[in-house]
Amino acid sequence: MFEHIQAAPADPILGLNDAFRNDLNPNKINLGVGVYKDEQGATPILKSVKQAEERLLNQELTKSYLSIEGAPAYRQAVQTLLFGEDHNIITKQLAQTAHTPGGTGALRIAAEFIKKHLPEATMWVSNPTWANHQAVFQSVGLEVGSYAYYDANTKGLDFEALLASLSQVPAGDVVLFHGCCHNPTGIDPTPEQWYQLAKLCSKQGFLPLFDFAYQGFGEGIEEDAKGLRTFLEHVPEMLIANSFSKNFGLYNERVGALTIVCETAEQTEAAFTQVKRCIRTNYSNPPSHGSAIVAEILNSKELRSLWEMELKSMRTRIHEMRSLFVNTLRTKGVTQDFSFISKQRGMFSFSGLTPDQVAQLRKDFGIYIVGSGRINVAGMTHENMEPLCDAIATVLKG
Ligand code: LMR
Repeated sequence: MFEHIQAAPADPILGLNDAFRNDLNPNKINLGVGVYKDEQGATPILKSVKQAEERLLNQELTKSYLSIEGAPAYRQAVQTLLFGEDHNIITKQLAQTAHTPGGTGALRIAAEFIKKHLPEATMWVSNPTWANHQAVFQSVGLEVGSYAYYDANTKGLDFEALLASLSQVPAGDVVLFHGCCHNPTGIDPTPEQWYQLAKLCSKQGFLPLFDFAYQGFGEGIEEDAKGLRTFLEHVPEMLIANSFSKNFGLYNERVGALTIVCETAEQTEAAFTQVKRCIRTNYSNPPSHGSAIVAEILNSKELRSLWEMELKSMRTRIHEMRSLFVNTLRTKGVTQDFSFISKQRGMFSFSGLTPDQVAQLRKDFGIYIVGSGRINVAGMTHENMEPLCDAIATVLKG
């Protein structure tokens, strides 16, 4: 029965991790998957997380099932982070949130919900976008189109082309936005541009789906939610898939959420019952541990301020690595202008390296970056910067 099955291609991001593990080069450097590393090249457990876990270990009374949508304390904490304290979306109960296994779980549930209730909708994703977006939406049978985003000449946002693309999207379709720290480019709209996009969304009548996986990695927890909150001033409905993999370092706990916003509390309640049906037929109900950690931290004054400090220090280290990378490339005699990298935000940098250069970095130097040229800046350290920049200078010479 299985003899006809062909091997699937390696995943463009997670497949790199496997290849990296098998590489015997002692000087190998992994700048592929979006995982934060500290100056020592480790991905440590945050202190706030460890302390929350200690508390949980003492408090936990049962391993019985959570409800389909997850624990109330977690769901509330997610909404406060997304919308801000006492936002009218919260006080008027216009949003409902379900705990999902990671941001990908949230996207998958969103995809099924869209396919079932908006079956004619096309999904629109930016060009480029996260390597898994298209596949997640296509896996439920949705049509996926792309809208203009990146300008390879300026290495910035092509805002005119973006507006022109989205002006063609009809009412009833769904447009995916990266809430902040666009993956893979690291280029976000400005507050004024978010405002224009929100107005356009309202005029065209498409549904925004925010993928919000890096809150706090751009400029700050509140600042990074600006795009999403601006939209909510202009449009009555929204889906939000968020993740705590990066900002809490909870990668393997798979902790994220899907939030639905509708025009009235009654509509939200009805639509949320359908979200829960999608969950029930997928994984039934969520795993508990990761969400309990997040809720414990966000609901404790002391742990929250420790977490905010830790998040800030991750964000600051990445900013520093960006400048150091640009300066070190210059000292290695690289004449191309890489200063755009200091302006990008979040973990990633869209380097402009070609697929051939990416392949040569891997083959000759054991340096792993995603085929699109996306570099995980959060994997750079003072120690690996010199060999990394030497290698890039060599491949750029051709
Ligand atoms: C990434 O883009 O590297 C991360 O979001 C991890 C993943 O699942 O691809």
